[in-house]
Amino acid sequence: MLRFFCRGQFMQHFLDIESLSTQDITALLNRALWFKQKNFPYPPVHSPGLVNLFYENSTRTRVSFELAAKYLSIPVINFSLSNASLSKGETIEDTITNLVAMGINLFVIRHSENFFAANIANHIGNAAHIINAGDGTHAHPSQALLDLMTIYEKKPVLSDLKIAIVGNIKHSRVANSLQVLFKKVGVKQLKLIAPPIWQTEKAHFGHITDSMKEGLQDADVVICLRVQKERLLENECLDYSTYRKDFALTPSTLCFAHPQALVLHPGPLNRGLEIDSLVADGAQSCILQQVKNGVLMRMAIIESLLGMS
Ligand code: CP
Repeated sequence: MLRFFCRGQFMQHFLDIESLSTQDITALLNRALWFKQKNFPYPPVHSPGLVNLFYENSTRTRVSFELAAKYLSIPVINFSLSNASLSKGETIEDTITNLVAMGINLFVIRHSENFFAANIANHIGNAAHIINAGDGTHAHPSQALLDLMTIYEKKPVLSDLKIAIVGNIKHSRVANSLQVLFKKVGVKQLKLIAPPIWQTEKAHFGHITDSMKEGLQDADVVICLRVQKERLLENECLDYSTYRKDFALTPSTLCFAHPQALVLHPGPLNRGLEIDSLVADGAQSCILQQVKNGVLMRMAIIESLLGMS
């Protein structure tokens, strides 16, 4: 059980899990749970506006940041990259500086390059708050926190939990952020299951295996990752029918885990590849709870950043 119940230090930027203290994590978790209990209407916060700046496609993260901001009474601009002056040669730094001059003080950024949001944060300093909504294979901190919230609601004694993450560990920013987060909150055991070519050389936390049977054994939580075809180099491609046979989360592989194991997936799902519909839509699935919690966790993140404004 997480013991602290306090607001952490306010943050200037939200870039990765490494920068959060245990108190910050606990405060965000408690605030998101409080939003869930409270329901509409939510207390408004003051911000002239939030810009969603997504260089990569997104459904869940982009829409949930938009909803989160709107629930807090913040105007939202979904910035269209194709219509922007970036296409005339303006740098992203200049674009953001101009938007700050108009009063925007929150930027939600997704990009395929590792540390893209952190580099923008370095440039902008205290002039605005930068939120990393996923950068390359590096980090997806808001996803990790909403996953923790979903687990905590059903299984709050984190120090007792055996968690397994299965899939493309090497290219997964979600797996990276989750490893750091699970270590910080004191999860008992983490197994990282992947075929050798999709394993990391060194895990932040957890034991790496290529055996579903070993990795899922008695797991209380199973987190299935998307096969990220778009990030694979030529020599990292696998035969997908072999992958499916050896690593898919199906009713029979799920049997290796605890009978009441929770099933999570960050989405989007490749049904019939990394996860079967019978599992994704089954009684143990928490996938739609993750999506619902995503809005509430992102409200907590935005509110926490604005505490500094
Ligand atoms: N989990 C996640 O990041 O989903 P989207 O790509 O739809 O935002």
